[in-house]
Amino acid sequence: MREEGLLSGPTLPEEEAFESGIRPRELDEFIGQEPLKERLRILIEASKGRDEALDHVLLSGPPGLGKTTLAGILAHTMGAQFRITSGPALERPGDLAAVITNLDRGDVLFIDEIHRLPRTVEEVLYPAIEDFALDIVVGKGPAARSIRLDLPRFTLVGATTRLGRVSSPLRDRFGFVDRLDYYPPEDLLQIVLRTASILEVEITEAGAELIAGRSRGTPRIANRLLRRVRDYAMVRGDGHIDEATSDLGLKAFEVDDAGLDAVDRAILSAVIEKFNGGPVGLTTLAIVVGEEPESVEDAYEPYLLQAGFLKRTARGRVATESAYRHLGIIPPEPGQATLL
Ligand SMILES: Nc1ncnc2c1ncn2[C@@H]1O[C@H](COP(=O)(O)OP(=O)(O)O)[C@@H](O)[C@H]1O
Ligand SMILES: [Mg+2]
Repeated sequence: MREEGLLSGPTLPEEEAFESGIRPRELDEFIGQEPLKERLRILIEASKGRDEALDHVLLSGPPGLGKTTLAGILAHTMGAQFRITSGPALERPGDLAAVITNLDRGDVLFIDEIHRLPRTVEEVLYPAIEDFALDIVVGKGPAARSIRLDLPRFTLVGATTRLGRVSSPLRDRFGFVDRLDYYPPEDLLQIVLRTASILEVEITEAGAELIAGRSRGTPRIANRLLRRVRDYAMVRGDGHIDEATSDLGLKAFEVDDAGLDAVDRAILSAVIEKFNGGPVGLTTLAIVVGEEPESVEDAYEPYLLQAGFLKRTARGRVATESAYRHLGIIPPEPGQATLL
């Protein structure tokens, strides 16, 4: 059976509307990631000082850490328009041409999941971001010829959950490449408190801390959990969130002490119970839990790896001893599990 992924599951349309309402608009509102913010401030001030468009920026990191938000902040701070598209949405070179011929000088073009850009489109992108030129072919057959259109100087901001899958010619064309990392609990606490104040939810520091601690380092998840706990507090309490309310609310939505949701536990229990603790290949594992291999790899697995529940080996994914303990299963004697 397919489990509902409360934590790492995809963003739903109603959630996107909610997210855009709480998205920081200025760098100063963006919590944490201080070294990255400092580098961006320098980049912004330098290009403003020279009255130039911002250099192209590539941001990588797991989902929900603030890549889209930062791209929007860059556009806002530069006083530029923010145009959003994504790798999978740009299927043919013509799709990209339609987007970039509509840009004005200084505009920020955001391409999400840029590692999923088709090769043919990527090739059109190179001269566009390097020489601000678009080569298009007009006519057919022997009469066909290529003409070059000049483009305004715009800024490309690319985002990817998979830096390793961005081709090196593309990566090399970005003037600034940086990555976002999981947030420490104190930053997540500030994010929960900030969102609670925007939503006008009353929450105690301890209540917010508990949510922050189960958010697996991810602002999007912190905000998701806060919304669920807010629902719980409204329906089962008086709307006010304290530590006990957070705890009960999270239990009601099956988020455990380690911040794992039902899908995370389904993944771990599949590795342990169906594959003897592993190794098991990613595709097989994804099929067993009813998810796309890509979403297991990009959304679920990174946190399970970082929290030490799962290991990646050359032969596949392996459950660690803490995964067994977390699920209350006795781990096999060392060495025993690998005798396949
Ligand atoms: N540093 C931050 N401070 C405050 N809110 C943040 C921060 N990073 C992310 N968020 C919030 O988390 C949500 C997800 O961020 P988003 O930029 O969409 O992540 P990504 O594009 O990396 O998947 C947004 O609603 C945003 O408001
Ligand atoms: Mg995003």
